[in-house]
Amino acid sequence: MSSKMPYKVLCVCLGNICRSPTAEVVLRHYCDENRLNVLVDSAGTSNYHPNKAPDERSQKHALKRGFDLSRLRARQLTINDFLEFDLILAMDHQNFDDIQQLMKKAMHQYEPHCIKAKIALMSEHDTQYPQQALPDPYYGEADGFERVLDQCESSSLAWVNVFQQQSNTNY
Ligand code: 4NP
Repeated sequence: MSSKMPYKVLCVCLGNICRSPTAEVVLRHYCDENRLNVLVDSAGTSNYHPNKAPDERSQKHALKRGFDLSRLRARQLTINDFLEFDLILAMDHQNFDDIQQLMKKAMHQYEPHCIKAKIALMSEHDTQYPQQALPDPYYGEADGFERVLDQCESSSLAWVNVFQQQSNTNY
């Protein structure tokens, strides 16, 4: 195990009960599998479901692929996250804009050098879903939850490729 500080990534959607918890667990799985020194967390731009476990449907579909979401609890994105995390991954374009708005507030409250975080789309480097939104499955059917998993797997592998090029993420 490296003594280096981990590279810290935060996955962000609206509610932090469907897309971003799925992204958190899938991205962590591929980072760990590739022995990357990356720490992954998730949050929501809203505070609709504070401290709630992920949506039962997200949990059920994820578990069928071997991903256990049961221990996660929802929380809202905070200004402090811009100081703590290196990379904030937005699940869709509205999330991206909302994250950027909060980052502007963070920049007013803190010196510019304190703000570590870069913002990107989850699908930024994904050639299968290039810069595409991760569609919100909350009001939809089972296929939406499967689509979230498909896209999280594909986009996570694309990020692993990017992290492998960054020497500070390797053990
Ligand atoms: P998520 O999905 O942003 O992927 O967690 C949603 C969860 C809850 C709500 C909307 C989207 N909601 O309106 O409560």
